[in-house]
Amino acid sequence: MVYSVTSTVKRGVVALGSAALSLIITLPTLAAENPGYIEDQSRRTTGIGKFYMGREISFVMGHQAAGWLNRPGRIQEEMPDEVVANMKLEPTHVVADIGAGSGYFSFRIAKLVPEGKVLAVDIQQEMLDIVEATKAKEDVTNIEGVKGAIDNPNLPMNSIDAAIMVDAYHEFSHPFEMINGIYNALRPGGRIFLLEYRGEDASVPIRPLHKMTQEQVIKEMGVFGLEWTETLDFLPWQHMMVFTKTE
Ligand SMILES: C[S@@+](CC[C@H](N)C(=O)[O-])C[C@H]1O[C@@H](n2cnc3c(N)ncnc32)[C@H](O)[C@@H]1O
Repeated sequence: MVYSVTSTVKRGVVALGSAALSLIITLPTLAAENPGYIEDQSRRTTGIGKFYMGREISFVMGHQAAGWLNRPGRIQEEMPDEVVANMKLEPTHVVADIGAGSGYFSFRIAKLVPEGKVLAVDIQQEMLDIVEATKAKEDVTNIEGVKGAIDNPNLPMNSIDAAIMVDAYHEFSHPFEMINGIYNALRPGGRIFLLEYRGEDASVPIRPLHKMTQEQVIKEMGVFGLEWTETLDFLPWQHMMVFTKTE
């Protein structure tokens, strides 16, 4: 079966003012058009048989594998401390970790924003429960768990300075709606950090649908007019791509 969805999100600011009262209603600014999804089980490889801009979407990693996210070898494979250092955060920043899982990155980021906070967003309550248990154990107070929906990160508009997605975006079943929600939640000048295993590199030992090429990521972020600011290539297996909301 094949279907496609097209929707347009209008963004703009409406200002109503008087001497006594000034009211600003913030509506979404700019237009982003959903390129649509194609569902075609006959083309399915190892993913969900749903395609976005030519890419088959992967399955969601179940919470049962949360322990694997904390495996010791990940320090060498994904260099998490270097990743968060390279985000160049300020102590007051509010950072959304989208698809936070067990909080492997959330807890590292929280140390860098002592006067700000981390919003750890995930669709699996079991993952958010793990984050809460670790918060209590490590006495961390500047992480808030947010229960997202598959098509909505559930973040207020203009509320975050940065969003990070590590090994997560490729499994979002509704990537257009997710980036739209993140875009709206970002403050002007806010940045998106997108980390995925390098799809261009056959030697990276990860299944194909768990990797992405830079070309594909740039194409998908381009739907929103997000500026590709840079790609940091210090990681053994992943791209660390940075996009900026310029307006
Ligand atoms: C492979 S794990 C990575 C977790 C974490 N980023 C890390 O690097 O340790 C991907 C996570 O994304 C979450 N996820 C999948 N789709 C999501 C969505 N639409 N919104 C928020 N989280 C999502 C999954 O529940 C899972 O916890």
